[in-house]
Amino acid sequence: MLICTTKKELREAIAAQKSGGKSVGFVPTMGALHQGHASLFKRARAENDLFVASVFVNPIQFNNPDDLKNYPRDFEADRRLLEAEGCDIAFHPSVEEMYPEGGKVERYNFGSLETVMEGAQRPGHFAGVGVVVGLLFRLVEPTRAYFGEKDFQQVAVIKELVRQMGIPTQIVPCPIKRGEDGLALSSRNALLTPENRAKAPFIYETLKASLELASRPCREVKDFVESRIASCPLMKLEYFEIADPDSLQSVPDDKPAVGNQGFIVVWMGSVRLIDNIHYGAL
Ligand code: PAJ
Repeated sequence: MLICTTKKELREAIAAQKSGGKSVGFVPTMGALHQGHASLFKRARAENDLFVASVFVNPIQFNNPDDLKNYPRDFEADRRLLEAEGCDIAFHPSVEEMYPEGGKVERYNFGSLETVMEGAQRPGHFAGVGVVVGLLFRLVEPTRAYFGEKDFQQVAVIKELVRQMGIPTQIVPCPIKRGEDGLALSSRNALLTPENRAKAPFIYETLKASLELASRPCREVKDFVESRIASCPLMKLEYFEIADPDSLQSVPDDKPAVGNQGFIVVWMGSVRLIDNIHYGAL
């Protein structure tokens, strides 16, 4: 595996290895890699000639300075996992390399996709994601790029980004990878206290239990989820929303949940946990 730390090195490495119309699978990450990321790596490896990954903690997508400061970083462990997953080229730039002083970045407007849920709660978050993924797409020019449905709204934003950039990259959404206890794998799980970690699977248990109510009005589903989470003293609900899986606009309370997506954010101590579920037909 080749490790590139500058844009120039990356462009040259890709140009050298891509010759002859080879397909390029790309997985952008912020490191602290786990089996959730690995599930994306496996697909990128299996479905493309070249597999490129990036590891970059993108400061401009963090709206909370403590979250950025505490974000787990361990490139040596990340390098080993990428190598084991058959990565050809890993891009691991510094902040100065990605955003040189005075450097111009392309900015995008994602309209209503970035004003709801994560966009509303984390101002500037998706703008920052758009900037970095836009830069990375221009450098890598991937045939396919892989994103996890754990960040469901991010997938919608990235599809819109590709549309606005006018590039042919295919966005491949990948299912949420969970621990055996059901907790969605996340780099932030490592920051949970043992007591909170033990209780955290209750979030997905609650979402799963709410599937029984899929044919009921959204208000009932919300009341159920809100009261279950409120019953756990270790958890603080930031939001639970039921929205259309394409437009991400919220479904009126009197309409049934079925066919829509439930989105939850829960705080445990200083750790923010995110998950979502689809209300399929019963
Ligand atoms: P990061 O949080 O490192 O996640 C990188 C990719 O891994 C994202 O597409 C995310 O949805 C996916 N992922 C994380 N946990 C997962 C899980 N349990 N199951 C399936 N996929 C999972 O998302 C980002 O980084 C950044 O916003 C980035 C796109 C790299 C831009 O900076």
